[in-house]
Amino acid sequence: MDLGLGGKTALVTGASRGIGLATVRTLTEAGMKVVAAARTTTPELTETGAAVVNADLSTLEGVRGAVSGAEELVGDLDLLVNNVGGAVGDMVGGFEAFDDDRWQEIFDLNFFSAVRAIRCALPGLKRAGGSIVNVSSIGARIPGEGPHPYTTAKAALTALGSALAEQYGPQGVRVNTVSPGPTRTSLWVGDSEAGARVAAARGITVDELVKEVIGRLRITTGRPVEPTEVASVIAFLASPLAASVNGADYVVDGGVTKAA
Ligand SMILES: NC(=O)c1ccc[n+]([C@@H]2O[C@H](COP(=O)([O-])OP(=O)(O)OC[C@H]3O[C@@H](n4cnc5c(N)ncnc54)[C@H](OP(=O)(O)O)[C@@H]3O)[C@@H](O)[C@H]2O)c1
Repeated sequence: MDLGLGGKTALVTGASRGIGLATVRTLTEAGMKVVAAARTTTPELTETGAAVVNADLSTLEGVRGAVSGAEELVGDLDLLVNNVGGAVGDMVGGFEAFDDDRWQEIFDLNFFSAVRAIRCALPGLKRAGGSIVNVSSIGARIPGEGPHPYTTAKAALTALGSALAEQYGPQGVRVNTVSPGPTRTSLWVGDSEAGARVAAARGITVDELVKEVIGRLRITTGRPVEPTEVASVIAFLASPLAASVNGADYVVDGGVTKAA
């Protein structure tokens, strides 16, 4: 299906692997001129042919550099995908395991990165009549699952998308959210990443943890989400096919979220 994205420009944050990398691939295949932002450039990212801007997106300077670098490469953005996020260091433990500094770090990556990127990119997005897709999490809807700083940062991100859709929809900029459930990325399967740390703390393997999560969250498809499945929803929301979708939160979670 032609998504009508050919020749349009995009910046995808957190794009060296996982959902961000899959999104870069999908948008590039749809004919977009894509700039990918991350701290590192993986061989898989290079293979996509996307332009790359290396930046630490947990800082204001990093975000500013990524957006201005992208605009220098491709001009005004038609699409901003705020995908960067996830675990920052050890995310094991309940509420009392996180002091103010840890809350700030986790909010910097999962919430303020998007606030800052949107602020920087808005003038160009308005000129282009572009759109924004924020990658939140089903954790925003089930915050008790934790880690609390992560799920509440994602809840704030989801709320931000809804608020900005109200303000900027009338100015021709759509803002939507995609909320994945557990997705097969390094967040879960990498040896040193969050899933591995949680599994180690519980004395089980990552495979056992994934099986337990599938059962506990009642993932009806019986497996984690694939990154490409999130990427295709992002591409749809960015496309003219979704011209009347604004302020929405699309859940991609294999049926975790039960609606009446
Ligand atoms: N996987 C899941 O189960 C799941 C579920 C719900 C929501 N999500 C959300 O989906 C998004 C993507 O998650 P993912 O699982 O694809 O993550 P991932 O596989 O861990 O990839 C994270 C990406 O972000 C980049 N990154 C991390 N910290 C960065 C920083 N400070 N500055 C710049 N780039 C940074 C990483 O690249 P570098 O290391 O090269 O910088 C990498 O490209 C996140 O917002 C996450 O919260 C994921």
